[in-house]
Amino acid sequence: MRSFQGRDILSLKDFEREEFFRVFQVADQMEPIARDRRSCDLLKNKILVTAFYQPSTRTRLAHESAMLRLGGSVTGFSDAKMTRAGDFYQESIKDTVKMLEYYGDAIVMRHFQQGAPHEAAKWASVPVINAGDGWGEHPTQVLTDLYTVNKERGRIDGLKFLCIGDMRMRTMHSIGYALTQFDCEAIFISPKEMSPTEEWKAELKAKNLRFREAEHVEQVIHEADVIYMEPVVQADYTKSRQESGGEKGTTPANYKVTRELLAAKGKSDAIVLHSLPRMDELPADVDATKHSRYWQEAFNGVVMRMALLNLVLGKSE
Ligand code: CP
Repeated sequence: MRSFQGRDILSLKDFEREEFFRVFQVADQMEPIARDRRSCDLLKNKILVTAFYQPSTRTRLAHESAMLRLGGSVTGFSDAKMTRAGDFYQESIKDTVKMLEYYGDAIVMRHFQQGAPHEAAKWASVPVINAGDGWGEHPTQVLTDLYTVNKERGRIDGLKFLCIGDMRMRTMHSIGYALTQFDCEAIFISPKEMSPTEEWKAELKAKNLRFREAEHVEQVIHEADVIYMEPVVQADYTKSRQESGGEKGTTPANYKVTRELLAAKGKSDAIVLHSLPRMDELPADVDATKHSRYWQEAFNGVVMRMALLNLVLGKSE
């Protein structure tokens, strides 16, 4: 297995099966620290730089919380408008990162341009973690999600994933790539204008993932072990920011998972994951059912980032 020390976490395209399990193993070691709301000194004297060119609630704060729990420190920005990259100068990724690498020991970057963290990694002498790049990928979220599945269902192999929502989403891309490393089947449901690209499907086929597409969640929910959701009432992820403007529209029944549908047609032990934020595709009354696992997913988001920071900063080999 390749070492994680000093490694960039940019994509799950090249993540190998044993690497998932190694990350899960380290996450298990971190879990009691987060569970007991403790901190330790594993990353004492290390600094994490958060470079967020797009809004975030979970990803930025989970990374920051993870670093603080590990005894490290955090600096960075959550709005590029407060930096020279977001004003008159429109400073390039290269010029920005050539500074950030001296301010910390790892950089977590979210950007509206697909490939921006990869560009950053080209220039940075410290590990770069992709916190979501445009419609590209969201590797740390999907590592969190699969860690949650493994914990909640005791395995990933043999499970059928029903992925519902905007297939342009970075989480969908990353989960597709990740599932190629497991004995899983996937069903994708999305509106036509948000359907999986031929290029992405070809990549999944080339890695032998068994998948198919369906039109309506009601037709296939009975097959699903893991229901993996994203909104279809969606922001434009290629923009640095999108304000809420007027009517947002509602989600057609094809892409909605309700308490009633789960009761009528879902498997009794199916679990629902949603990386959030949600719109109306997942009504709040699903929260109190035995199926919901998105709050565990949120907790595991801190645990997973603790594991990744430990691994890339060389504290867990
Ligand atoms: N799931 C996720 O990426 O959430 P944020 O946009 O709040 O980071």
